[in-house]
Amino acid sequence: MRIITSIGEIQGLSTHWKKAGLRVSLVPTMGFFHDGHLALMNYAKQHSDRVVVSLFVNPTQFGPNEDFEEYPRDPERDRFLAEKEGVDCLFCPEAADMYPEDFQTWVNIEGLDKRLCGASRPGHFRGVATIVTKLFNIVRPDLAVFGRKDFQQLQIIKRIVRDLNFGIEIKGYPIVREADGLAMSSRNKYLSRKERKSALCLFESLKMAEHMVSEGCRSTRRLAHAIERLILAKPGTRIDYIFLGDPETLTERERVKGETLLALAVYVGATRLIDNTILRPPKP
Ligand code: PAF
Repeated sequence: MRIITSIGEIQGLSTHWKKAGLRVSLVPTMGFFHDGHLALMNYAKQHSDRVVVSLFVNPTQFGPNEDFEEYPRDPERDRFLAEKEGVDCLFCPEAADMYPEDFQTWVNIEGLDKRLCGASRPGHFRGVATIVTKLFNIVRPDLAVFGRKDFQQLQIIKRIVRDLNFGIEIKGYPIVREADGLAMSSRNKYLSRKERKSALCLFESLKMAEHMVSEGCRSTRRLAHAIERLILAKPGTRIDYIFLGDPETLTERERVKGETLLALAVYVGATRLIDNTILRPPKP
């Protein structure tokens, strides 16, 4: 596996591969790999000839009071795991190269970024959209793979690709979970033993909502109330949002009809966790 830090070098390598007729995939990450990341890499490996994984803790998507400094990092372990997964190239750029001092061009989404995580993390999606656009331009992949846990991020990236005509295939990979259902996340590392228990309330809420819908409940207000009660019964939890709405436009719905996105953001202690599912009412 090649480890490349230079933007010019990865551009050269990717161009070389593409000239040779190879299908190149990109898995953008912020490192500290868990099985969720490895599943994205594995998917990329199965669906392309060369896999590039980018590892960059992107400072511009963290707010001033967020966890950029503390964000877990373990580059050596990441290198080992990526190599084992059959990744061809790990691209680890320097922040000074990605954002030189006179950097002044940003990618702004106007709409999909307004609700859910965008409402509580102003500027977050501008940072994500900008870094992902840069990575797309640097690597020029045919395929890029993202986790569905960050559902809003995935929809925003699909929209960027459509609106800016990138011509890249975007795969949203299903959420990978721990044995008890907690969605895998690098931030799970922050949880104390007690918080880890409370954190299960996100998965339990999704399962409860799926069950209520299968039993005939269609009112999103009733679902949200039940979820709120379940979450707040766990020690140390605080709800950021409970969203029930259209998975494409990310606008709220009063009734569950057709595919409806249920997305949650919950603080457990100081750690903010997200999770989601698509609710599908059974056909009559
Ligand atoms: O999902 C992430 O890890 C990040 O938001 C991404 C897409 C790598 C951009 O920094």
